Amino acid sequence: MKVRININGKWIEEETTPSEKLLDFLRRLGYKSVKAGCREGDCGSCTVLFNGNPIRSCLMFVPQAEGAKIETLEGITPKEGLHPIQEAFLEEGAVQCGFCTPGMVLTTKALLDRSPSPSEDEIREALKGNLCRCTGYVQQINAVKRVVKEHE
Ligand code: FES
Ligand code: FES
Repeated sequence: MKVRININGKWIEEETTPSEKLLDFLRRLGYKSVKAGCREGDCGSCTVLFNGNPIRSCLMFVPQAEGAKIETLEGITPKEGLHPIQEAFLEEGAVQCGFCTPGMVLTTKALLDRSPSPSEDEIREALKGNLCRCTGYVQQINAVKRVVKEHE
């Protein structure tokens, strides 16, 4: 079967199967920023934006994304340099192994798109589903606060 999906601003038509997960589909198409962690909806490493909202791509079958707008980290990273959220993660030392980072950055983008000046509680609430084994989370919270401050 074929699906039509907008990925990072481009409509594509691509063969899939009823049981293929969006995570595997995106990685098959070369979007390797989408990380396969637990594959059970627990870690958030496979997060992508689905019509602007963070979702776990390991829990979605590709046909469920028919007609949707999907964004991955590749889509928000400028050709030259980095997105301001990526910059802030680097500046604050919020990236160690980096496995959780694409999902964290996309979740942050969705948060700031709907709430440009979130409180610390709102930041913590938004990021609570994106697990990180390396950093202890303080750096990520600081990174989001830095982006907010820079855009005040
Ligand atoms: S790989 Fe999807 S939530 Fe862990
Ligand atoms: S930086 Fe390693 S899991 Fe988050």
